[in-house]
Amino acid sequence: MNVAHIIVIGLSFLSVVCKKQNPVPPPDVESLKSVAPFPVGAAISATHLQNNTAYKNVLVKEMNSITPENAMKFANLHPQSQSYAFGDADAIVNFAVAHGMRLHGHTLLWHQSVPGWVQQFNGDSAAWESVMKTHIQTVVSRYKDKLTSWDVVNEAFLDNGALRIPDTDTSSRDNGSIWARKLGTDYIARAFTYAREADHDLLLFYNDYGQEYSTAKIQSIKNMVNSFKARGIPIDGIGLQMHMHVNTSRAGITNALQQLSATGLKIHISELDISVNSKGDPNAVYSDAIQKAQGDLFSFVVTQYKSIVPVAQQYGITTWNVGDADSWIRSTYKRKDWPLLFDDTYQKKAVYHAFLQALRN
Ligand code: G3I
Repeated sequence: MNVAHIIVIGLSFLSVVCKKQNPVPPPDVESLKSVAPFPVGAAISATHLQNNTAYKNVLVKEMNSITPENAMKFANLHPQSQSYAFGDADAIVNFAVAHGMRLHGHTLLWHQSVPGWVQQFNGDSAAWESVMKTHIQTVVSRYKDKLTSWDVVNEAFLDNGALRIPDTDTSSRDNGSIWARKLGTDYIARAFTYAREADHDLLLFYNDYGQEYSTAKIQSIKNMVNSFKARGIPIDGIGLQMHMHVNTSRAGITNALQQLSATGLKIHISELDISVNSKGDPNAVYSDAIQKAQGDLFSFVVTQYKSIVPVAQQYGITTWNVGDADSWIRSTYKRKDWPLLFDDTYQKKAVYHAFLQALRN
């Protein structure tokens, strides 16, 4: 062995030692949850969770808050009057608990998730009250200590600020709420009270869409919050769904965050997505220019949230679904669209990087 051999062997040895002491960080260690100053989450489906490893991996790596997309809705959980179907909800709860994720329940009462047995239910006002109370308290009690918060009531107001009308006209069913019709217009307050009775530690949210474009709806929500405070009805937070499109007015977003933060309640951006083909053009393409505009809007939402909402009120930001392929927009409107941070195979998109950059403190 000559001197050159000895030097080579010595250098190799040193290199191994140095690698052990200063391991090169693996690429891609950053994630949304690692940079965000508040929880970041997504609405998820039990089916995807069970069948799609890429989906599951991206959740584990990126998110620290989870909202069940459908599994905890009334019609899903309580399809028959005397029986509940907890399977999908339990699967999501077990996943979140196993990975130390916060769980936000969605939603105890929503006019669009009313099972047939409730639609056909015949009873006096006490019997109707019991339907609502029993459902709320059974479900909240089951997930006590597992869920941190619930959307107690979802979408009770119309865009014109009126309470979703207690009509009897089935042709306008989407405008009416069976709960308002059968229980009277103060059902929201009683729903919140029943939820608090079942779990004193639970954070209770009112959740709705359109605050970024409807000042009338914001006013109604603020009036409701003020009335709750005056009457000692519990409420802890407001969810702004923020299903937006790439041209959504920035002024409206700023206004909604300012006005609703002024209530002092926690603010959850609860269902964020940004459609880029809201007109449903069958030839739409996801061009670089559109991706840039979408990324700018995602960044704007995050930076406004950070600068307007006081830190103690920042409940977090949740996207509605994970990858573009599982977006409700594609399945509901049967159109091309790319509204989320991950693509069809759960790879990070350009807008992911814009979102992450804005989250970084
Ligand atoms: O699971 C069944 C499947 O078995 C059946 O073959 C298929 C046929 O249509 O339907 C499937 O269920 C659908 C379910 O999504 C799961 O994909 C329902 O029809 C469909 O109505 C349901 O849509 C959900 C919608 O709420 C209504 O509950 C969307 O996934 C969900 O993203 C959407 O979420 C709402 C929020 O709760 C409130 N804010 C708005 C948001 C978007 O509309």
